Amino acid sequence: MTDEESRPQRTPCSPRAPGRPGRLDDCRVIELPRIQDARGNLSFVEGGRHIPFDIRRVYYLYDVPGGESRGGHAHRRVQQLIIAMSGSFAVVLDDGSRRRTVRLCRSFFGLYIPTMVWRELVDFSSGAVCAVLASEFYDGSDYYRDYQEFRRAASTLRGKKRSR
Ligand code: TYD
Repeated sequence: MTDEESRPQRTPCSPRAPGRPGRLDDCRVIELPRIQDARGNLSFVEGGRHIPFDIRRVYYLYDVPGGESRGGHAHRRVQQLIIAMSGSFAVVLDDGSRRRTVRLCRSFFGLYIPTMVWRELVDFSSGAVCAVLASEFYDGSDYYRDYQEFRRAASTLRGKKRSR
């Protein structure tokens, strides 16, 4: 397991193809449109245009006590965009063999995560609000919540990729 703190490549928003399942390299920070105005700035996200999926669900995390972490799972079918609407936090991304940490602190950046990537949200600042745009409705059976089970599935996926 390697553990690297990386500065991910920032890409302007684009309707690029969905990230490949389980690929850390396909996790990316997307720069969202920003309408700057003396009255306050405005950003927006359009499903299928700025991110490579249609948005079926939005949820948000708030009032996270100091020292708590969220996430700790991977998804079989759900792709997500994670935005720090307020404050900051770090997202630890893990493909079962490598790790990468991305810190989010501006509301015009969103972290895109394809399917089959384990994520943990840690180190929330006080007052942080984390919005998550998801490609599917909530379905508990979409989750890997057991890390060892996820690692086995991710390893099988990598094996399939190699044999192609
Ligand atoms: P969970 O996804 O485990 O939270 P975390 O962000 O820490 O990974 O969800 C916590 C609880 O909330 C769990 O009981 C399922 C429920 N939940 C929904 O009902 N709908 C949703 O869209 C989400 C994300 C969670």
